[in-house]
Amino acid sequence: MAKKAADKVNHITQEAIKEMFLESKPMSLCIADLGCSSGPNSLSNIKELVNAIERESRKLFERAPEFRVYLNDLPTNDFNTIFQALPDLYRELKKGRNHGSPSIYIAGYPGTFYGRLFPDKCLHFIYSSNSLHWLSRVPPGIYNEQGDSTNRKSIYISENSPPKVAQAYFEQFKQDFSLFLQSRSDEVVVGGRMVLILLGRNGPNYVDRGTAFLWEILYRSLAILVSKGEVEEEKLDSYEVHFYAPSKEELEDEIRKEGSFKLDRFEMFEIEKDTGNSSTSYGRAVAMTVRSIQESMISHHFGEAILDNLFEEYGRLVDEEMAKEDIRSISFVLVLQKL
Ligand SMILES: C[S@@+](CC[C@H](N)C(=O)[O-])C[C@H]1O[C@@H](n2cnc3c(N)ncnc32)[C@H](O)[C@@H]1O
Repeated sequence: MAKKAADKVNHITQEAIKEMFLESKPMSLCIADLGCSSGPNSLSNIKELVNAIERESRKLFERAPEFRVYLNDLPTNDFNTIFQALPDLYRELKKGRNHGSPSIYIAGYPGTFYGRLFPDKCLHFIYSSNSLHWLSRVPPGIYNEQGDSTNRKSIYISENSPPKVAQAYFEQFKQDFSLFLQSRSDEVVVGGRMVLILLGRNGPNYVDRGTAFLWEILYRSLAILVSKGEVEEEKLDSYEVHFYAPSKEELEDEIRKEGSFKLDRFEMFEIEKDTGNSSTSYGRAVAMTVRSIQESMISHHFGEAILDNLFEEYGRLVDEEMAKEDIRSISFVLVLQKL
């Protein structure tokens, strides 16, 4: 699903890096992928960016720049898997080239993107796909003085949540996204570009069916395990996800307030339901995506033993819901230029 989102806006990403390159022609072009994960997308995105710049250089009869590529994710990410795939990437980049392979130097940068990651003014291009809708933490404002969650019967903002819950999530998003922009502002050169792809909401209402249903179904799957005695009810009551799907206006407001980036492009798109693989149902595909993100938090809170049963229920419930209603999540793609 993440790959589909990135593919759908591939042309926007490529145009943004080409524009930046033609304006400034750096000899050593520095790219960072924030929230790169460890799946096959991590390196295929990089390959496409390098290919795009090489094509532009060939058109101009110029030598392509060297590439410095920084792959970022949280320290718990499986960087080893990415590093083990590097020889294949180098081989692919060499394929069909009679003038040798591009000079490319790749490094891992473990750490949170909600804070500084890179030295001052070193990046020309930032790419971040499907990562910025993850908050740095569960908003502290949802807990009462006793430390109990006020968001009973939900694990995210839902129709049943008290207004204070939505407000707490929104506050956490503002804090995180402004810190993200401030940090990148120090790291990106003037004229550098950022392409950000993330899930969003279609309007001001905090409860957006397209994203809320992912968490409503996780809650229902956990509740099924409570009814089977596999999960304690109190554990479920105290679980929350650190996710937030912002609206267009909320993103624009934070960009304006922070002030160091110009918004060159803002587009909204939907991902279709098809999985592209007939042996996997849509529900299962969604379950696998949500599991890859939630697995460590769920294991920490409920224990690892529930994972297989939980996500089997999850996949089944998604298929059941989708048979009744075509629920679509929307994503945003933003191109920002450093002023
Ligand atoms: C769904 S994956 C996206 C992977 C890839 N970018 C793609 O589009 O296929 C989201 C990634 O964001 C990472 N992530 C979440 N919060 C982060 C943070 N604060 N700093 C760095 N990475 C983060 C997660 O660890 C995860 O690997």
